[in-house]
Amino acid sequence: MKRTFLWLLATVSLAAAPDAFVVAPYLQNPAKDSMTVLWVARGPGSGTVRCWEGERLVWQHEAGGHVPARTLSYSPWESEIFGVRHPGYQREVRVAGLKAGHVYRYEVEQDGQRWQGEFRTAPGPTQSVRFIAYADSETEPESTGKAVDWENPEDPASKRLYLVDQTTGYAANLEVIQQRRPDFVVIAGDIVETGGEQRDWDEFWMHNRQLAGNIPIVGVIGNHEYYGGPNDGHYDEDSSERAVDKYLTYFRAPSNGRVEARERGRYFRMDYGPVCLIAIDGCNGLPHKSASDTNLYLGSQRRPLGDFNPGSLQYRWLEQQLRDAQRRCQFTFVVFHHCPYSSGVHALEPGFDVPRQDLQSGRPMQVLTPLFGRYGVDVLLNGHDEMMERSEVDTQEVLPDGQLRPYKLQVYDVGIGGDGLRGPELKNPLCKFLAHLDSPEMWQGGILQDGGKHYGHLEVEVSPVGGKWQATLTPVYVFPVLDSSGRVLRFERRVYADTVVLEGKSPGR
Ligand SMILES: [Fe+2]
Ligand SMILES: [Fe+2]
Repeated sequence: MKRTFLWLLATVSLAAAPDAFVVAPYLQNPAKDSMTVLWVARGPGSGTVRCWEGERLVWQHEAGGHVPARTLSYSPWESEIFGVRHPGYQREVRVAGLKAGHVYRYEVEQDGQRWQGEFRTAPGPTQSVRFIAYADSETEPESTGKAVDWENPEDPASKRLYLVDQTTGYAANLEVIQQRRPDFVVIAGDIVETGGEQRDWDEFWMHNRQLAGNIPIVGVIGNHEYYGGPNDGHYDEDSSERAVDKYLTYFRAPSNGRVEARERGRYFRMDYGPVCLIAIDGCNGLPHKSASDTNLYLGSQRRPLGDFNPGSLQYRWLEQQLRDAQRRCQFTFVVFHHCPYSSGVHALEPGFDVPRQDLQSGRPMQVLTPLFGRYGVDVLLNGHDEMMERSEVDTQEVLPDGQLRPYKLQVYDVGIGGDGLRGPELKNPLCKFLAHLDSPEMWQGGILQDGGKHYGHLEVEVSPVGGKWQATLTPVYVFPVLDSSGRVLRFERRVYADTVVLEGKSPGR
């Protein structure tokens, strides 16, 4: 894709210490005419956002407020480690009045320090788009020095650890993503290891300090965003809500029009060029602890969390959005965390009979498949099973004129962001590609040359080709190149042999 804008890496003045930015400025909620800039300042002083088109200053706005971001506070045991209760003061500016598909340079000035970056507003429906999807970054300080189990497809009984620790693997993945300069990045849940632990969020923003200042991150909620933590109530209701408040504090998305606290901000739709991206919260199904529930720990009679099942508020909202997207968008992508079709442990039926059942099964999400088919959803972007897997579901769209169009719904688990690199647990009859088995490792002299399961992501390129729209879905892995002694020299962007090309809707559909 042709890129006309210059890439500016965000920079922070090193003139003064300590850093005025606890969380460096980052971009959210990209629209055709506006972009949100957020940051967390260390001190209570106000900050200023300035934005230029070329050399012309088009926006200047000051953001202040003397109340620290309460939802971002450390729990008592975290405070003992860090010596602070609140990380800082959140600042937010919606830069408005911009032109669609344009590149702008911006600067945030806070307490004498300046942060600079650039962004592109969302393009109109006739412009090309590139975005990248992954899931399960699950950041936490403990990721440093800890490599995950790396099951050997040839010998599942043997024990191996992955070649680098999770911190290195995620950082390398982000480096490759930045180099591709996508319009936005979408994370299909499990952004952090423990949603209730402030230090895990600190870790996430530390990793994304450069990227998030130049590329909007669309954060979609996963079960770990509902997880209070081993020291803070696990999945009990109050802990879950405290955890989710952090997610809702950091991320901004177009409004879903809901006023109920349990529905607001947790699912949304973002139109971006020819793409409709619809994000769902599938972390809690009702009735609680039934076959319709993805998370048998969450929810209660007292204050049930938002449901995704037929008849729920979210389901009705989803149907409305899908119907509209079918008419307006070339491609509809639906993002949610729990992968409904996979080979992983979460493909077991929901229940408490471990190991034959799973406490956080993705299977209940299959209830949405008929709806996805009916409105011609092209792709599901999921995670949770922490594999790179693609499944195809035979379904049919009901066209607006009533005709039926048979097609294959593409379902991805892109959960190889930065945590587990799991192996399959059972046979998935719909599976078309599974990195674990379909990309054999090639070893020579005890050194891995290529193939295998690694950290990575899915790159999506949407562009017009010969008068029609195409979406090219490329599964990418970030390969650690080893020297003769098995030490990692560098990382390379490589592509799994499973590129999928989809065609956009024909005119008049
Ligand atoms: Fe996960
Ligand atoms: Fe998960």
